Amino acid sequence: MSPVALITGASSGIGYAAALAFARQGTHVTAVARRAQRLAELEQAAAALPAPHGSILPVTADVRVAAAMQQAVRQTVAHFGRLDVLVANAGLGHRGSVVEADWDDLETLLQTNINGVLHAVRAAVPAMRQTGGGHIIIISSVSHNLVSPYAAVYAASKAFVSSLARSLRLELEADNIGVSELLVGRTATEFNEKRLGEGKRTGQGVPTMSADRVAAAILRAVGTNQKTVTLRFFDRLVIWGNILAPQVMGQLAKRQYR
Ligand SMILES: NC(=O)c1ccc[n+]([C@@H]2O[C@H](COP(=O)([O-])OP(=O)(O)OC[C@H]3O[C@@H](n4cnc5c(N)ncnc54)[C@H](OP(=O)(O)O)[C@@H]3O)[C@@H](O)[C@H]2O)c1
Repeated sequence: MSPVALITGASSGIGYAAALAFARQGTHVTAVARRAQRLAELEQAAAALPAPHGSILPVTADVRVAAAMQQAVRQTVAHFGRLDVLVANAGLGHRGSVVEADWDDLETLLQTNINGVLHAVRAAVPAMRQTGGGHIIIISSVSHNLVSPYAAVYAASKAFVSSLARSLRLELEADNIGVSELLVGRTATEFNEKRLGEGKRTGQGVPTMSADRVAAAILRAVGTNQKTVTLRFFDRLVIWGNILAPQVMGQLAKRQYR
């Protein structure tokens, strides 16, 4: 029987690329996002892959709504018979001052990046237990430990999901469910243009990678049950810089993000 993955945020960027990569290797995919048209395009793109390939079940849903994520998992099991992999990927960026930022923006960010991941995990795990195990990929960021004015709330939302992933890995060990966090660096997607708050522009001098590269890392992490995945030397430099020299990194970030 072909494995089955559920990917949130599959209508663009990393989620879209991951859905196609899973389908290419024969995994069926439930593709969750709010834009139905984009999901229909993904379904067509997967159908055009060289056979044999997995198929896409498009599910229009908002990750901020717990019942919608429960429903997405029910639809997955009804359609494909099982759920093996969850990629909790849907997310948004934000820049702006903690104090002056628009509260609606911050609430949208927290509900998407934090509640959305929790709703997806809580819906997926019971289905994975039914078939003896599975794997959860949490899409975090190199920003998870960033000391950075004007990106604090986004960074804190990624700190939340990274922390969640590390504890969840132990909590689900006995269920034979692996958990990996991906500390993703700057990737060429719609993320920058959709970022909430003041900072639509991107920071200068940050190397960008393709969504396909991140998608390949997601597939590898499922295969190897790697605890933490960091893709590039530059990303490791940022993470270690924030551990060893947070004040210096904070001043650099302050110049970029103001
Ligand atoms: N791009 C980067 O540089 C970068 C760096 C580090 C980490 N990341 C992380 O990578 C993940 C994916 O981002 P991306 O770069 O691929 O950006 P993207 O192209 O903007 O994709 C974001 C995806 O999330 C979905 N989404 C947003 N809000 C949603 C909601 N309420 N319900 C359901 N789906 C929702 C969007 O679909 P709809 O709008 O159709 O709902 C879209 O499919 C995010 O968690 C982000 O924080 C990205």
